[in-house]
Amino acid sequence: MSWKTGSLLSIYRKTKNEISFFIPNQIIPLFRPALAPRSGGDFCLFCVTCLFCLFFACIYMGKESKQTEEARIFGVAHTPIEIVDFMVQSAVEILCGADKVRALDPFTGDGVFIGSLAAHGVKSITAYEIRPEQCAATALKYADTACVDCCDAFRTKPCNFNLIIGNPPYGKVAQSEEIDARIRKTYSGTAKCQVALFDAYIRAIRWASDNLESGIIAYILNSGFLDGIAFANFRKSIAAEFDEIKILNLRGNHRTSGETCRKEGGNVFGQECRTGIAILFLVRK
Ligand SMILES: C[S@@+](CC[C@H](N)C(=O)[O-])C[C@H]1O[C@@H](n2cnc3c(N)ncnc32)[C@H](O)[C@@H]1O
Repeated sequence: MSWKTGSLLSIYRKTKNEISFFIPNQIIPLFRPALAPRSGGDFCLFCVTCLFCLFFACIYMGKESKQTEEARIFGVAHTPIEIVDFMVQSAVEILCGADKVRALDPFTGDGVFIGSLAAHGVKSITAYEIRPEQCAATALKYADTACVDCCDAFRTKPCNFNLIIGNPPYGKVAQSEEIDARIRKTYSGTAKCQVALFDAYIRAIRWASDNLESGIIAYILNSGFLDGIAFANFRKSIAAEFDEIKILNLRGNHRTSGETCRKEGGNVFGQECRTGIAILFLVRK
């Protein structure tokens, strides 16, 4: 055995745990002989294993970057089921029973709100999703439970719903001239820096407010609207447009620092989400 082979073998012995991290569980048994270093004879198998590891690592990283890209373009985030259940149960109680609910989840993604609505006994469920492949998967999964349409929610004018519920996209996604004009007219006021008012989650509130005759809007969203200066007139407007407003500040704002950041605690969406989160119920009688 040459000194180079010897060095490689010792590197392998030191790193075999990290290597096995990249290999999916089902594949590991196939490589067990190579992952149990006994002699130089296993070395060829070790090299093949490394190539496969590289292959799986590339697939894994490719998938990760696709997810990050989707998150940026479509404002994708997955709501924890405990929060979804809490929102659905509260809405059902406010509307006095599941049989009275006509629900719309306009930003359904993988349909977590559809599942919870159905589990709480709601029979009338409609959902929208803009990404065709995600829409197809969700429509198939909930074929017996909900009507799932592939569309841009902001270009629809839904009626006859008394519950608009979900997790709207965040960030600078989903442009709509019509909704932006409504935001300028109703939320802008005299605030100097108004960029934050044109975030997708504020557009989602404006759009839902304009399409709900009576009932509830229940969203989980960025909590920036609670105290931001740009949102002064927004807060005034929703107070005037709705009969009741209930807000749960779940905190988790990690764009602060030091003691303030520590007090905010963990974010319900995990470490990757740095903005504070709130649940908002807007009730119109
Ligand atoms: C924040 S995710 C919520 C996903 C899921 N409901 C959840 O809470 O786990 C927002 C979802 O809305 C979709 N979306 C973004 N813009 C949209 C639009 N204009 N119309 C319909 N769906 C949209 C995204 O593709 C994404 O699946």
